[in-house]
Amino acid sequence: MTEFSRRVEDVSISGIREVFEAAGEEAINLGLGQPDFPTPEHARRAAIDAIESGAVDGYTSNKGTRELREAISEKYDRDYSLAVDPEDVIATSGGSEALHLAIEAHVDPGQEVLFPDPGFVSYDALTRIAGGTPNPLELREDLTLDPETVEAAITDDTVAFVVNSPANPTGAVQSEEDMREFARIADANDVLCISDEVYEHIVFEGKHRSPMEFAETDNVVVVSACSKSYSMTGWRLGWIAGSNRRIERMLRVHQYAQACASAPAQYAAEAALSGPQDPVEEMVAAFEERRDLVLDGLADMGLETPTPQGAFYAMPEVPEGWVEEVVDRGVVVVPGEAFGENGAGYARLSYATGTEELEEALGIMREATRAVR
Ligand SMILES: Cc1ncc(COP(=O)(O)O)c(C=O)c1O
Repeated sequence: MTEFSRRVEDVSISGIREVFEAAGEEAINLGLGQPDFPTPEHARRAAIDAIESGAVDGYTSNKGTRELREAISEKYDRDYSLAVDPEDVIATSGGSEALHLAIEAHVDPGQEVLFPDPGFVSYDALTRIAGGTPNPLELREDLTLDPETVEAAITDDTVAFVVNSPANPTGAVQSEEDMREFARIADANDVLCISDEVYEHIVFEGKHRSPMEFAETDNVVVVSACSKSYSMTGWRLGWIAGSNRRIERMLRVHQYAQACASAPAQYAAEAALSGPQDPVEEMVAAFEERRDLVLDGLADMGLETPTPQGAFYAMPEVPEGWVEEVVDRGVVVVPGEAFGENGAGYARLSYATGTEELEEALGIMREATRAVR
């Protein structure tokens, strides 16, 4: 007899934390996956008003308030001309819980989930927690996921594949053509496409497209959140949208794990989604300027970096010992291996940090690069 479940035995705590600890308190932190902007004023105000009026004293409906789900539905109409019924949405505790619902409700022990490697740390862990088998997939040179790689990896055991665009940790954005292919693959092979779109608004060129726009069956579910787009990581508010039968099935997990998402956060999210969108535009413009600064700096050091087209991460190829040297000199960056085996030889830099700090960090990285070359 063991003390703990086998499924959780195989899950390790994300490697990112170790880097924070190694760098010390004075370090410049390029390790964080969250915007350095405040939550928009109108979103905070909506939560304060809801608290003061007592509207948040009780549970909401399991799926979330009708008003929030209507705001989410209007968002899909506004952004993608997609008809999403407010009944076919569950408000969750961040995008994290939405991913958990998708995997828990669809994956049986022994079944496989495909996902990008390097990729966001949750896909592997959540698959293991569900008793499934993670199958990480190699990326193209430009760090996007090739639909052909996905289709070639599908076997009788595959139930789902994850698409994440814009992506963490790479900043890569999938083309519309790729998104059409992912939808076709989900339809043709009868596997679920879990589209993680938490960075959907943080795109520098063109526009984010969703496989849900192109699917002919209900084999796509979309995960998103207020966390990144509205700088609301601490509020813990995301959602999942899909067909009614999938939502009702995922609700079985959500109901028992969570009951409902935090009520004050639901009011803030409703205001963020339905109010003025200029805070998002301002944040994205700032991220684009910083991306250019970081790319120029890395190019000056002779480090090759695929141009990130979204999110707020850059992923340069780095020489051996580079991450340790940079961390020792007081700049937190995350080793690529934290995001999967194929991340080896890369580092993830988050540029959700002020320009002055970024410039200082780039100076330190330049010295570190000289030291390890
Ligand atoms: C790709 C990706 N998906 C999902 C999440 C989870 O977001 P949330 O904070 O809304 O749970 C993150 C957070 O870093 C992420 O990078």
